[in-house]
Amino acid sequence: MLPWVIIQYDLDEFPFPAIVARHVGSELSRLHERYQLERLAYGTEQQTPLHELLYSIGEPFFETYARFLRRVVRPLIGDDVIYQMRPNFRVQLPGNIAVRGFHRDRDDNHLKTEINCWLPLTPVSDTTAVWIESWEGAGDHRPAVVQPGELLVFDGSNLEHGNRESTSATTRVSFDFRVVPGSVFQPSNARSVYLGVRFQLGEYFARLEPDGAPAAPTPIDHPVPGDGRSARRR
Ligand SMILES: [Fe+2]
Repeated sequence: MLPWVIIQYDLDEFPFPAIVARHVGSELSRLHERYQLERLAYGTEQQTPLHELLYSIGEPFFETYARFLRRVVRPLIGDDVIYQMRPNFRVQLPGNIAVRGFHRDRDDNHLKTEINCWLPLTPVSDTTAVWIESWEGAGDHRPAVVQPGELLVFDGSNLEHGNRESTSATTRVSFDFRVVPGSVFQPSNARSVYLGVRFQLGEYFARLEPDGAPAAPTPIDHPVPGDGRSARRR
């Protein structure tokens, strides 16, 4: 049995690839033509000029994110959903990786009850997929090859996962976030590595409000990786 679940969703209803491409002003799979990045590593993997551009995204990305959480994610998790307010963007240029080496998110202070959601915005191949072990300690990482319009759900807090060096000729862009069922949510005073915020409501997480409530987070309210606290950098 595979250690992940793949959920199909409608790209017309949730056009994440088009929204992000419009924001960066480029076809996402061709970003390597505009950006060269050093090999990504722990401490820098979220702090390149390309990531800075991606994290300056605002509406309609966050409006679409909130709708996606309500209509696609909540039916998987239950009525009470705690979610990561600012998703992570990942970029994997040809010959590079998108995240540091293999790891378990709990080793970076993440809650063990988090459920990882990963959405590619470009086509994915073996070496641009997330590689995930079958069960805790197995170490038999296999590629979870999913495509735009698919949501990958896995236990990234407890299962070791990471990247291989990309042999693709094109750029892979994705975003990911964590959700926690409210029934098992235990906030923590520990802080996230890149944002420096605690794993608590109002910092790293928020509670998903019912349909119709003004739950869509705005970028100004949310931290950006690399600045420690706040998006108010300028
Ligand atoms: Fe991870």
